[in-house]
Amino acid sequence: MDNMLARASGRPVARSRRVALASVVVGLSVAAATLAVASGANAGTTLGASAAEKGRYFGAAVAANKLSDTTYVGILNREFTSVTPENEMKWDATEPSQGQFTFANADRIVNHARANGMQVRGHALAWHSQQPGWAQSLNGSALRQAMVNHVTQVATYYRGKIHSWDVVNEAFADGGSGARRDSNLQRTGDDWIEVAFRAARAADPAAKLCYNDYNTDGQNAKSNAVYAMVQDFKARGVPIDCVGFQSHFNSASPVPGDYQANLQRFANLGVDVQITELDIEGSGQTQADNYGRVMRACLAMTRCTGITVWGIRDTDSWRASGTPLLFYGSGNKKPAYTATLDALNGGTTPPPTTPPPTTPPPTTPPPTTPPPTGGCAATVSLNSWNGGFVATVRVTAGSAAINGWAVALTLPGGATVTNTWNARGSGTSGAVTFRNVDYNGRLSAGATTEFGFQGTGTGPTGTPTCTAT
Ligand code: G3I
Repeated sequence: MDNMLARASGRPVARSRRVALASVVVGLSVAAATLAVASGANAGTTLGASAAEKGRYFGAAVAANKLSDTTYVGILNREFTSVTPENEMKWDATEPSQGQFTFANADRIVNHARANGMQVRGHALAWHSQQPGWAQSLNGSALRQAMVNHVTQVATYYRGKIHSWDVVNEAFADGGSGARRDSNLQRTGDDWIEVAFRAARAADPAAKLCYNDYNTDGQNAKSNAVYAMVQDFKARGVPIDCVGFQSHFNSASPVPGDYQANLQRFANLGVDVQITELDIEGSGQTQADNYGRVMRACLAMTRCTGITVWGIRDTDSWRASGTPLLFYGSGNKKPAYTATLDALNGGTTPPPTTPPPTTPPPTTPPPTTPPPTGGCAATVSLNSWNGGFVATVRVTAGSAAINGWAVALTLPGGATVTNTWNARGSGTSGAVTFRNVDYNGRLSAGATTEFGFQGTGTGPTGTPTCTAT
């Protein structure tokens, strides 16, 4: 504990342990939020550092009113690379009166995260629950309009600061019906979900847009219904980038045997998958084993981009009596923590060679007439550790649509590219070039796409050039 508190109070020390984000912008100065967090000397000794070594974030749900608790903040700053405001970005918190937005509590979390090098997951823009009273009493087009305005205002306010948004939360019914959940939002028409996604994309084009739900962790009627929706969205060009699997487990709802297979089938649709609200009730070795299983499932999937646990200490949990988290109320590490860290360190990360989606959709709907060729810009974010790195490259079209792109950069001596995803690379050392694959070459004006590569040695530090092709 003493050691932990010493680290908590030694914020500059903690910060120095995070390798600086290398972000180089070239060409057009299109703002791109590159909030990747890197790990350095702490690699392998904290959840965040170990996950970063595998190219993933490791997050926690955070409550603004706990940011004055030094034990809590000490663990947060030491262990986590992403935060999700547990309640502070919800509709009732951010728009308590119609048209009157209040971000004070959410801002406390966002500012804390950014000041300490952590990314932020946004939760949740449109949800049947935790609506302010005024929204609960609306229906029809008035509610639809209010929902769109809410999504637009909140996503615009946080534009560039959120790595992934839960745009729509828990819209499907439990049980075997495979139906949408009845709610005031659902009664405004089936298309409310895609309308919310389009509004979110317009407001924050760089954020990954997720659908998030629970009891969808294994294959069942509910996850089948979500799967069909995602498949339909991808086919029709509705902007969706990720699916969140809440992963609230206990003995009545254990980690499903087909957890990895179920998440993988979503990834195969061409979306990222994220474990968004993980907690597993229990204790001791059984709980530890279950956490290990969940970690290994994520690490085995190249498109499982990160894990968030729903709270820090057992006593912080929304279901504290089930002791579902990684730290005791004292702040000490539980066996579940050790199993999680071990799995992250020992997990065999398959090379991130994301297969193209089975029905390769364009990231943006194809324009009806061939677009004029424009320029593009590229930014590189590095997750580095001793002896290796993961580079995430964001390509942004300029003021005109482009049909393809090529990004050229130079690796320092001794560095070698070992894996590439979402692009075709030529060359593995020295001067290397990455070209778009079939489904991510065409970008409308200002639109972005990402690819990545992993390597040994030191990552690129020079300036990438992006050429539209
Ligand atoms: O802050 C007030 C406090 O002033 C008041 O005295 C007290 C009395 O009940 O309520 C406090 O607010 C509570 C809030 O949590 C903060 O603790 C709310 O009543 C309570 O409803 C709220 O619960 C949250 C729940 O979502 C609401 O649906 C939990 O913290 C939060 O962990 C939980 O998170 C959800 C995700 O958003 C979506 N997925 C499921 C997950 C777990 O339920």
